[in-house]
Amino acid sequence: MERYQDKVVLITGAGDVAEAAAKRLLCEGAKVAFSDFSQEALDAAISGLKAEGWDGERLMGIKCDVRKYEECEAAANAVLARWGQIDTLVATAGIIRHCPIDEMTEAQWQDVVDINLTGVFHAVKSVVPSMKERKYGHIVVISSIGGRTGRPGVGVNYAATKAGVNGLVMCLGYELGPWQITVNSVAPGPLKGKMFAGMTQDRIESLSAGIRLQRMGELMKNMSFPWMRYNSLPMKGSGIYRLGI
Ligand SMILES: NC(=O)c1ccc[n+]([C@@H]2O[C@H](COP(=O)([O-])OP(=O)(O)OC[C@H]3O[C@@H](n4cnc5c(N)ncnc54)[C@H](O)[C@@H]3O)[C@@H](O)[C@H]2O)c1
Repeated sequence: MERYQDKVVLITGAGDVAEAAAKRLLCEGAKVAFSDFSQEALDAAISGLKAEGWDGERLMGIKCDVRKYEECEAAANAVLARWGQIDTLVATAGIIRHCPIDEMTEAQWQDVVDINLTGVFHAVKSVVPSMKERKYGHIVVISSIGGRTGRPGVGVNYAATKAGVNGLVMCLGYELGPWQITVNSVAPGPLKGKMFAGMTQDRIESLSAGIRLQRMGELMKNMSFPWMRYNSLPMKGSGIYRLGI
């Protein structure tokens, strides 16, 4: 029996990390719902997975902007209506808007806070009631190494929000533990993919600085999703797991 057989996973975001997580979860038997504010991203993720042979009946795409709590609640309800439960939330929806602090506008600060931090709060809040009811659930937030150590080239807005979600995760682990709900965050280093597409060579070098291999990671090789690989990890409790750095 696969570990995720008949489990239902809601993934916020439908980008590179979401798709990689979905593939692994589908291999393990899960049903996967993506929620993203971009219909294009949803269509690309779902059609890509179907083209690889995954059954469309085990996939769902929901348009949802994590900045709005009502949309997160509606997304969670849509999954509950179709599949009856949400076993795991994987919160990947996020953006990066790097620039030096003295040039950073209020909007560049606030957009990142609204999506990377408040968006995680909304997504988590929307799944907790049904998890509490079942006394079961796993919540995984994709943070970043930038939120643990700082990192040249990501921007203070990004690093501050990722440190913020780490705080949320650590506190929430205590809060939800009595309901047997685990809360973990994964903090990857920079990865090749859409998030950093089109960046300059200077930026690639500054992002690569401090990485032991002196280069950006590659998602499928680097990102092994420890909450699944270390079999019992989510069962044991909550914390932050550092990857690829
Ligand atoms: N890619 C990396 O190098 C890297 C490294 C460390 C951490 N992370 C984190 O991993 C997560 C996923 O990154 P990725 O590489 O898959 O990025 P990505 O750009 O490929 O995907 C992000 C997705 O989030 C969606 N999104 C953005 N704003 C949204 C909103 N308001 N509501 C709903 N969806 C929204 C986008 O449409 C996109 O599909 C992010 O939180 C990112 O900070 C990424």
